[in-house]
Amino acid sequence: MTDTHVHPVQPAWRERALIDDATYRAWYERSVADPEGFWAEHGKRIQWMVPFSRVKEKNFDENVSIKWFADGQTNVAANCIDRHLASRGDQVAIIWEGDDPNEQKKVTYRELHESVCRLSNVLKDHGVNRGDRVTIYMPMIPEAAYAMLACARVGAVHSVVFGGFSPDALAGRIVDCGSTFVITADEGLRGGRKVPLKANTDKAIEIAGNNGVAVEKVLVVKRTGGDIAWRENRDVWYHEAVERASPVSEPEAMNAEDPLFILYTSGSTGKPKGVLHTTAGYLVYASMTHQYVFDYHDGDIYWCTADVGWVTGHSYIVYGPLANGATTLMFEGVPNYPDAGRLWQVVDKHQVNIFYTAPTAIRALMGAGDAHVTKSSRASLKVLGSVGEPINPEAWEWYFNVVGGGKVPVVDTWWQTETGGILITPLPGATDLKPGSATRPFFGIKPQLVDNDGQVLEGAADGNLCITDSWPGQMRTVYGDHERFVQTYFSTYKGKYFTGDGCRRDADGYYWITGRVDDVLNVSGHRMGTAEVESALVSHDAVSEAAVVGYPHDIKGQGIYCYVTLMNGIEGTEDLRKELVAHVRKEIGPFASPDKIQWAPGLPKTRSGKIMRRILRKIAEDEFGALGDTSTLADPAVVDDLVANRQNKK
Ligand code: WT7
Repeated sequence: MTDTHVHPVQPAWRERALIDDATYRAWYERSVADPEGFWAEHGKRIQWMVPFSRVKEKNFDENVSIKWFADGQTNVAANCIDRHLASRGDQVAIIWEGDDPNEQKKVTYRELHESVCRLSNVLKDHGVNRGDRVTIYMPMIPEAAYAMLACARVGAVHSVVFGGFSPDALAGRIVDCGSTFVITADEGLRGGRKVPLKANTDKAIEIAGNNGVAVEKVLVVKRTGGDIAWRENRDVWYHEAVERASPVSEPEAMNAEDPLFILYTSGSTGKPKGVLHTTAGYLVYASMTHQYVFDYHDGDIYWCTADVGWVTGHSYIVYGPLANGATTLMFEGVPNYPDAGRLWQVVDKHQVNIFYTAPTAIRALMGAGDAHVTKSSRASLKVLGSVGEPINPEAWEWYFNVVGGGKVPVVDTWWQTETGGILITPLPGATDLKPGSATRPFFGIKPQLVDNDGQVLEGAADGNLCITDSWPGQMRTVYGDHERFVQTYFSTYKGKYFTGDGCRRDADGYYWITGRVDDVLNVSGHRMGTAEVESALVSHDAVSEAAVVGYPHDIKGQGIYCYVTLMNGIEGTEDLRKELVAHVRKEIGPFASPDKIQWAPGLPKTRSGKIMRRILRKIAEDEFGALGDTSTLADPAVVDDLVANRQNKK
């Protein structure tokens, strides 16, 4: 990627901003020169029940141990709610915009407090205690946020599972963390279509039961009122339970390093990992990045379009904004329903000031035409954000010029489930923008580029992105498998956190994320391992072997390309292709739908039997002229067949 046009900080951005360039540089310098002092100061941005005296305890070597503010005590829900009651009890905390444009709801901090306290008591009445795991499988309704906050209030550890996941995927996550309490809804509603959450939960519980975890209680929010199966003694209506419960609940004093939540994410191998985030450091980091990256001012209306099932929803719909006393908008629907103008209609309707979305949505809406945008005013907008995948300069310019009218900064924020919050990003009043670049590190973040041998690259360079020091929002372990945590993130390059991303640093010190360098796909901002799609495929009776790679996709960023070897005697028909697509959707979820399936009589393997994915990627990209070194192939004829039958012929 070449350096594109630079968009300098505009005077209006600088005037409004909390941080200008000189401040950014001064704070950044201090944050890396004296992390203890810097974070001791900023650790005080949250409210402590017992103040901390210890700040950073980091060991990236051998067994890896990360602790922040370890002798302090606090409660995340109290920080997100109770703390604001005196000054902003009547301020709206959550604006909920339904899938149907005629449905909306506003929840004040006082109302949020009552709802969360009641739900906390429901949890306790059912025996949910500190440290217990609660699975949340919900649509985008305020009750999803109440559920997370109620867990935090009583010290339970939530595991939110995205509502688009299948019963199998949900079951795997319930089993992995041994959670016996599930919160769900009868059905979700997205783009006018119903999502059978309770039916999926019922199936998942059955599967979990067969795998040794017996779910005891299911709390069910009535969202659509649709027909659902009901198991007496296990299923409990949410509205009945909270009505009976007391509205008085004291937040538990949690240790800084007590777990706050588990969130499953995909890696290059094996089943999804339970990324574990803890209490205080996470909240300090989520709230601080929310304030400075989005230049959040009191009274601003803030909207992040993510789902609470992903980390973006955790840090930048719920925890960061509410810790800052913000008004956060929660959207149940999708960008193209009822039409492609929906997002901008909602921006006008609620006078949104800060808007945060994903490149895949931007590209899809760009394709739908400018008229859907320009018929709205969008005059309230002050900051635009992007997250989830690299944003191509063309989409960036469209976001900046058409959505923002050339008057609003675009912050391209790079981070991961593992990082808890944003690590590389512009700050609206400080950073000259380069479309396609996430620009500069946030306070306290020390990025480093290394080559494949681990040699540190200085100056302008292209390499593998590592972070060499800890920050408060960093994940602490993989739930139940610390060894996997160490192996996955700290063994490739000893003593450093390896992100799995490739990255270029330009002569100005700006960072350009080039995408994953491991076998992780990013499809419409949804992260999945090629291995997961492969194991879904081979679980079908007709399939003997499968290899999955990503290829560039105009809207999704990456598409899913599957090479499938069928069992002897089975023919690769159009019907079977459809069946396999449906099978993967059922096994993982609709978002993992294969885009291309190629019947592969054989897969290119080395003589030791390792699949040569490099070659498969090239064929999927229709770049087979550049197959590179094929001399180690066991059977070169396999490649000729795959090239001849490739699905992405230009
Ligand atoms: C991966 C993490 C954390 C938010 C949602 C995704 C890619 C994320 C950017 C960006 C280029 C990005 C990376 C990263 N990614 N943001 N601004 N520019 N790439 O979280 O599911 O944990 O995925 O998303 O490849 O490693 P996630």
